[in-house]
Amino acid sequence: MSNWKHIQLEQGDDWCMLTLSRPKVLNALSKELLEELSEAIDWVENQEAVRALIITGAGEKAFVAGADISELRQVPSAVEAERLAILGQSIFTRIEELAKPVIMAVNGYALGGGCELAMSGDILLAADHARFGQPEVNLGVIPGYGGTQRLSRAIGKHTAKYLCMTGDMISAEEALRMGLVQKVVPAADLLEEAKKLAKRLAQKAPVALHLTKKAINYGAEADLKTGLQMEASYFGLSFNTEDRIEGMDAFLAKKSPQFKGK
Ligand code: CAA
Repeated sequence: MSNWKHIQLEQGDDWCMLTLSRPKVLNALSKELLEELSEAIDWVENQEAVRALIITGAGEKAFVAGADISELRQVPSAVEAERLAILGQSIFTRIEELAKPVIMAVNGYALGGGCELAMSGDILLAADHARFGQPEVNLGVIPGYGGTQRLSRAIGKHTAKYLCMTGDMISAEEALRMGLVQKVVPAADLLEEAKKLAKRLAQKAPVALHLTKKAINYGAEADLKTGLQMEASYFGLSFNTEDRIEGMDAFLAKKSPQFKGK
């Protein structure tokens, strides 16, 4: 395991939590933090014992307040800006496609790159004071780490345009109503809720969870017929596992299944 400068790791028996931490700038994503996040995802990917991941921000004020604007100001050219966007996008896509469930515990401002990071998770839990938005337009630029694409897929084209074009922030409750987050909890309970959910997900059959995630992610981009074919094929793959025998036998024997991820 690496010693990350801006990411703290907490490990449970079968889950772990990454806390992004640059408190002086509301956990803004510097290039260094992005690179550490990429390394941290590599690490999580390779830990067989880790069956669920939580990502959160340090402190009570912000999840992530976006890309680091001091660094963005120094980006010398369109080509470099495009490179940076591709780097951020590729890391967030790896999180979206990670073979383990990812819970985003949104503990405050999730703006710009922070909202984009949150949207790369599978399940978004938000503290009641969290605020979401894509304020890049106020800086004279557009979202670059997936905001224009993931937001419109999450809440619809017109609402995404409204948020990206006004730069307005929305509350956690509004985000819940729009379907961007799945649950809003009192701030003091957020991490406990996230850990409880991670522990529950860690008890599920890992291959089935991964295939569910893949089917929904890829199906969301496909027409219904293609999506259904993919579902049938993944359904078939899930029958190749020992865990499906375990799950079905446990049900029939009225016991709790002990899934092994095989
Ligand atoms: N980058 C760099 N520094 C940031 C930052 C960011 N994204 N967000 C906040 N900070 C810094 C502030 O400059 C301030 O630093 P100082 O103490 O040295 O002055 C410190 O964090 C605390 O912030 P504020 O004093 O502004 O706190 P506030 O409570 O008054 O406001 C806020 C909070 C509404 C989140 C405000 O900080 C803000 O609007 N931040 C910027 C949000 C933003 O525009 N994000 C998008 C960035 S661009 C992007 O993300 C592009 C992309 O798609 C990849």
